[in-house]
Amino acid sequence: MRVGLIERYRRYLPVTERTPIVTLCEGSTPLIPAPALARALGCRWKIFLKYEGMNPTGSFKDRGMTMAVSKAAEAGAKAVICASTGNTAASAAAYAARAGMRPVVLLPAGSVALGKVSQALAYGATVLAVEGNFDAALELVLRACDQYPVTLVNSLNPFRIEGQKTGSFEICDDLGRAPDLHFIPVGNAGNITAYWKGYKEYHAEKESGLPRMMGFQAEGAAPIVLGHPVADPHTLATAIKIGNPASWKSAEAARDESGGRIDMVTDDEIIEAYKMLSRLEGVFVEPASAAGVAGMAKYLRSGLLDRNKETTAVCILTGHGLKDPERAIKTFGEIITVPATLDAVARGAGLI
Ligand code: F0G
Repeated sequence: MRVGLIERYRRYLPVTERTPIVTLCEGSTPLIPAPALARALGCRWKIFLKYEGMNPTGSFKDRGMTMAVSKAAEAGAKAVICASTGNTAASAAAYAARAGMRPVVLLPAGSVALGKVSQALAYGATVLAVEGNFDAALELVLRACDQYPVTLVNSLNPFRIEGQKTGSFEICDDLGRAPDLHFIPVGNAGNITAYWKGYKEYHAEKESGLPRMMGFQAEGAAPIVLGHPVADPHTLATAIKIGNPASWKSAEAARDESGGRIDMVTDDEIIEAYKMLSRLEGVFVEPASAAGVAGMAKYLRSGLLDRNKETTAVCILTGHGLKDPERAIKTFGEIITVPATLDAVARGAGLI
């Protein structure tokens, strides 16, 4: 029987017998080899895709949310709140529903992919579209938590990071050790923080090794790369359209302690990686999830990383492609409408 990640990694997590575990059997996501991608990028590396879209609400957020909502339940919380580019909202709403709490989510108006909005609504969240960007919404949520009886479930809640660090444990368990390179998209910077924490904890206990952390922001939303907040972030990868990340400092620490990099990729590079993943490997992700792969491709092409050196690389694919169906239709093209005849079908299919 599949168990949730709190049960699987209980001894690494701050829970007790008194913590009511709120779980949807998240985690234990597949680590998929990507030989066709490696060939297309002309490298001799072993590349693996950690497909976090396979979590119950379709993103890695479920790892942090099982912890945050379990601890909120332990503390007797009645309502949870978050600001979100969409995935945190969907996950918070699902786990809150399961715990019998009221979810409130603040979304940047007009900037959230449809799949995510539909999930938050389905799980019964009160959905507020804030006329401002994600950073403004997060600011409001923090103020609301100060003044009203509601629990924050953004990644500033330390239990979120605790849950998310289990991704590293799974990778080390699957590979038998840590990879050499860990590629990951960076938005609010909680996930790179969490993975680094996880690798360090496992290494301290099991000598599993430490990867270089390679984080990638979108070019129009790259405050960590630029060294200052971005007032008006823009990118088609709406999940990482963030101008002032909450975990900025700890992301820099992950980069520096691991000898890694935080860099940026263009929207075109993101879309190219998005296409490669689905067309070459059959792995459909949302655009933000492709940012790490785009960064890997960029570094291989530029020679910043040696394509001939024996290397194990893991790319974290943070969210499922169905989260953003509109982008998929725009990117992958036209549907051919045909009359209901065999001849038309054969022609349409290119069989004759
Ligand atoms: N990929 C996806 C699909 C995301 O939804 C996010 C963040 C990230 C990457 C970046 O992770 O913020 O930990 O650096 N989404 C948040 C949200 C901001 O509200 O769903 P991060």
